[in-house]
Amino acid sequence: MNKTVRFGISLDSELLKRFDKYINKEKYTNRSEAIRDLIREQLIRLQWQKGETIIGVISLVYDHHLREVVSKIIDIQHDFPHRIIASQHVHMDHHNCLEVIIAEGKPEQVKQLASSLKALKGVKHCVFTPTTTGKELK
Ligand code: NI
Repeated sequence: MNKTVRFGISLDSELLKRFDKYINKEKYTNRSEAIRDLIREQLIRLQWQKGETIIGVISLVYDHHLREVVSKIIDIQHDFPHRIIASQHVHMDHHNCLEVIIAEGKPEQVKQLASSLKALKGVKHCVFTPTTTGKELK
């Protein structure tokens, strides 16, 4: 376990006021935890920009009655050249399905996977959330 280091931050009072409003809204119990999250967020963005391996969470809502949409969703995943870690399917009602796909790979490849799924006829909504493998973060 790494040791915790304390350091001071000089900040414009107005900026600090806005930050405190933000951490209150986000339910942080202290400034340190909020600052740690902001640093991690930026480091994850850098991983993304540098093309390091990331995890992508893709959520899809679609009508399974539409011709071929289900088989196309499966084909696209099978053709993904990297790792689909998991996928979860929920039959929400008579028409609508929710599928959550977790994929690992280089940012551009995972993003391409999400774009291919989003472009399918029958897909009503697709959200792509990039996150990290967590290996570089403490
Ligand atoms: Ni379904």
